[in-house]
Amino acid sequence: MSFPKDFLWGAASAAAQVEGGWDADGKGESIWDTMVREGNHVAHGETPAVACDHYHRFREDVALMKEMGLKSYRFSISWPRVLPEGTGQVNTAGLQFYIDLCDALLEAGIQPLATLYHWDLPTALYNQGGWANPESPRWFEEYAEVVSQALGDRVYAWMTFNEPQVFVGLGHVLGIHAPFRHDDSPTLCTMTKHILLAHGRAVSVLRRNCPCALVGMAPTGDCWLPEDHTPEAEEQAYQKSVALPKNFEFSNAWWGDPIFLGRPPADAENAVGEHMYTLTEEEWASVSQKLDFYGFNCYQATAEYGPPDGYGSYAYQGSPKTAIGWNITPEVLYYSCKFWHRRYGLPVLITENGYAGLDFVMLDGHVHDPQRTDFMHRYLLQVQRAIEEGIPVLGYTYWSFTDNFEWDSGYSSRFGLVYVDYRDQKRTIKDSGYWYRDVIASNGANL
Ligand code: NOJ
Repeated sequence: MSFPKDFLWGAASAAAQVEGGWDADGKGESIWDTMVREGNHVAHGETPAVACDHYHRFREDVALMKEMGLKSYRFSISWPRVLPEGTGQVNTAGLQFYIDLCDALLEAGIQPLATLYHWDLPTALYNQGGWANPESPRWFEEYAEVVSQALGDRVYAWMTFNEPQVFVGLGHVLGIHAPFRHDDSPTLCTMTKHILLAHGRAVSVLRRNCPCALVGMAPTGDCWLPEDHTPEAEEQAYQKSVALPKNFEFSNAWWGDPIFLGRPPADAENAVGEHMYTLTEEEWASVSQKLDFYGFNCYQATAEYGPPDGYGSYAYQGSPKTAIGWNITPEVLYYSCKFWHRRYGLPVLITENGYAGLDFVMLDGHVHDPQRTDFMHRYLLQVQRAIEEGIPVLGYTYWSFTDNFEWDSGYSSRFGLVYVDYRDQKRTIKDSGYWYRDVIASNGANL
């Protein structure tokens, strides 16, 4: 058995990374609009203000997706575009943008996959404490209500949160992402509780308003590779992948166990002690409502660097890396599918996987990116391996459709299948994009 007939061959983006139009038609500001202006947070002082101008050029982008034959497009909704103050007054023009985007996608035969929260918290809500405010689950519920009422069953699959590991870990612990904070453990526990409750409330809203849609989320986290091909090594890699490390907020289990297993991670007390949050029975039931898939973003295996030679088990002197130094470890996609299906018992959806390169338009006017093609080829073979072993994999979503604003790195990391010249917004499908088109057309048979 190879790729299923209805496999979701897709590509992804996120509002703050591609849309631009930061104040267009009544949009409010997100923390990424406000805070990158205030400090020296992003390489070269770049901002998401214009990005790929997708807000104004989405029809051109959808036409490129169609040319590539994409079956799905994962995008996120900008909360402050829809609710400029985070709650209250709805910006109908902002909402209309997402209705039009979905309609254009459906018209092109592409299934919309929508993420509610890909990190662009409305500044107005941040100023009231953001995720640390006990009202935040209610704010998120209101936002989910507005969006899901408008989009209804246009959306094939919803994701509540993108990578809580990262927006909490990089945004509130390491201070690399907005809101650039270094919060303490008690605050992280409080925020976790609110994010979990927000997720639960949003799931109830989505079930009510979009009964035909799939509902899930898009977390990320460590995936260790087995040291060798013995069952014992695989078991060890699995156990390490589901453990709760010291930097618990980055782990799979911190978020996944409450949501998918309905309980805190086993070693939570050890990690956070007396600060551990509590939920009532009713709250646990809401947080752990059954979802339709386990989505995950996955780029590279976790490596343990250290003595004696400073390399993890699969890394070696000169081992393959992407242009931003991420290890190329195709097997991580096989093991992620396997481990997450085993852990949570749901079909899996690869919500992100991709390669950052040093792409540019070459003398002949094309973007030749053989490294990306090879990367995708290797990783997709591992997806095929998982499917052939009977693991239900719903789809593969390449990150990203176009080059875009890579958070604190700005525009220099290019992940896209489509090159964007930010001087004039000209799009050029890269060689890998054409290669992906052929893979999709053969439903993976040519891999
Ligand atoms: C994960 C995030 O969801 C996305 O926003 C980011 O651009 C990619 N990984 C690449 O770092």
